[in-house]
Amino acid sequence: MKIKKRVLLTGCSSGIGFATCLVLSRNDFMTYGTVRNLAKTKRIQEIINREKLPLKIIQLDVNDNQSIKLAVKKILTDSGGIDILINNAGYGMFGPIEEITMEEVKKQFETNFFGTIRLIKSIVPIMRKQGNGIIVNISSMVGRFGVPLNSAYVSSKFALEGLSESISFELEEFGIRVMVIEPGVVQTDFFQNLKLKGMNTDSPYHSLMARRVTFLEKAVKNSPSSSDQVANTILYALNSKDPDFRYVVGNDATNSIHMRNSLSDREFMKWIKDGIFHGKGLSK
Ligand SMILES: NC(=O)c1ccc[n+]([C@@H]2O[C@H](COP(=O)([O-])OP(=O)(O)OC[C@H]3O[C@@H](n4cnc5c(N)ncnc54)[C@H](OP(=O)(O)O)[C@@H]3O)[C@@H](O)[C@H]2O)c1
Repeated sequence: MKIKKRVLLTGCSSGIGFATCLVLSRNDFMTYGTVRNLAKTKRIQEIINREKLPLKIIQLDVNDNQSIKLAVKKILTDSGGIDILINNAGYGMFGPIEEITMEEVKKQFETNFFGTIRLIKSIVPIMRKQGNGIIVNISSMVGRFGVPLNSAYVSSKFALEGLSESISFELEEFGIRVMVIEPGVVQTDFFQNLKLKGMNTDSPYHSLMARRVTFLEKAVKNSPSSSDQVANTILYALNSKDPDFRYVVGNDATNSIHMRNSLSDREFMKWIKDGIFHGKGLSK
């Protein structure tokens, strides 16, 4: 009998996490999908029951050490190990740095960055003793380049990229691989869950923010990638014999990262400004 790989995935109540739980469990991974609020699991529980999937839903808040400890204990009792950790939980914050409070910046990092470190620190000892493991961090195309009025979120993803690249060297020595997924715009609850600042009409950033939000709304509407595309990329990476370190998802991400790599800083920043503030869009 084929032994199922055991996966711990964070942020499964919606979007990319929800889709990835289903794609992995439908493809024979023993999946432990975690959510911070168990009240949000009715829909996924119905699918699990209907399809009899190897998918168990467990409570885990990436900002709460005790909940991580309990969740890991449950998984180890149930299955004896963890082969794959997928750090997906996160949210977005838009607004001018002048109007975002220190508390808000810290919160953004607490979930998107420190939450990931908490999980990594809990799971690495298990993987190291096993002599194998895969850590997948859900970054973003904006983990590779800056965009206006999104600095708290962008810097949390830059930090995640730096962390991922750095730890990949030390963990490789113990048979643990690290991978980063860099989606462009994906149609999920992310946009309903956004924290927005600088929208008040008396803000000096109001006009810039209005243009920024218009651009974002268009980007979300105009053929963004789906959660399933991201989930299938993760599946593809996990099934690869010799996986890459980075996986970019979506034409928008592929195009923008190409521009970042091929233009000078000055040219790239003009391209971003023209595209986002002057309504030209981000195409080649
Ligand atoms: N959508 C995009 O365009 C896009 C693009 C690039 C990268 N990403 C990244 O993809 C990841 C997933 O986002 P999504 O698009 O799927 O958005 P989403 O539908 O809003 O899902 C975010 C998930 O993270 C969970 N979460 C938030 N804070 C948490 C915490 N403290 N502990 C545990 N779970 C927490 C949410 O749970 P609740 O339901 O309890 O809030 C939700 O399940 C994020 O890291 C995001 O930065 C998204």
